[in-house]
Amino acid sequence: MSKQVTVTIDGREIKAREGEKLLWVALENEIYIPNLCAIKEKEHPSGSCRLCYVQVEGRPRPVTACTLPVKEGLSVQTRSPQVDRLVKSAFEMLLSDHRLGCGRCPRRKSCVLLKIAKERGLKMKLSRLSPLEQRLEEIDESAETFVFDRSRCLLCGRCVWICQEVARVGALGFSNRGIERRVSTFQEVGLARSPCTDCGLCVEACPSGALYFKENREEKQKQT
Ligand code: FES
Repeated sequence: MSKQVTVTIDGREIKAREGEKLLWVALENEIYIPNLCAIKEKEHPSGSCRLCYVQVEGRPRPVTACTLPVKEGLSVQTRSPQVDRLVKSAFEMLLSDHRLGCGRCPRRKSCVLLKIAKERGLKMKLSRLSPLEQRLEEIDESAETFVFDRSRCLLCGRCVWICQEVARVGALGFSNRGIERRVSTFQEVGLARSPCTDCGLCVEACPSGALYFKENREEKQKQT
């Protein structure tokens, strides 16, 4: 059993298990830190979205909370001018490759981007970056119960992880690198031609409007 330690987050002393990642300690104690790519059950966090920066006492630069193991005496601030700048840049990077238009998004009531924007006072529009070319043509409606709209994908990897590690189907994965990185099926066939079993776990794991159940969309269309 791991040792209990005391850490300080925003001046609050909290007991935690040594080695647990700071992000989960904060969230479990109702201290919000923006996050997107973190998956609690994943042993090695990818640390790719760069939204979860915190300022650690004694360290010159912010570090990502999802990769930071807690230890006795650790003291962090969830906000600082440096943290806010980094989070704002990471957020804008995400927006630059995301189809906006929240009114028509099936996830508009539970979208992670809207939550982060609200918590951190960020705008849902680009100020410094230009939007990347949209992937509007890449909407896969071939699965029986859900739609995959890549133009709203944030590349958080939650759907890939759940499809591979929980459902153990492996229909979804990452392909390409850098700016071309995307979630796709093997050889980019439609979901209906992939090993997908329509279990819907990927839809539940998706924090944006990239994966949504067809019945939701119909519901939405009735409203607009
Ligand atoms: S949640 Fe920490 S880098 Fe994405």
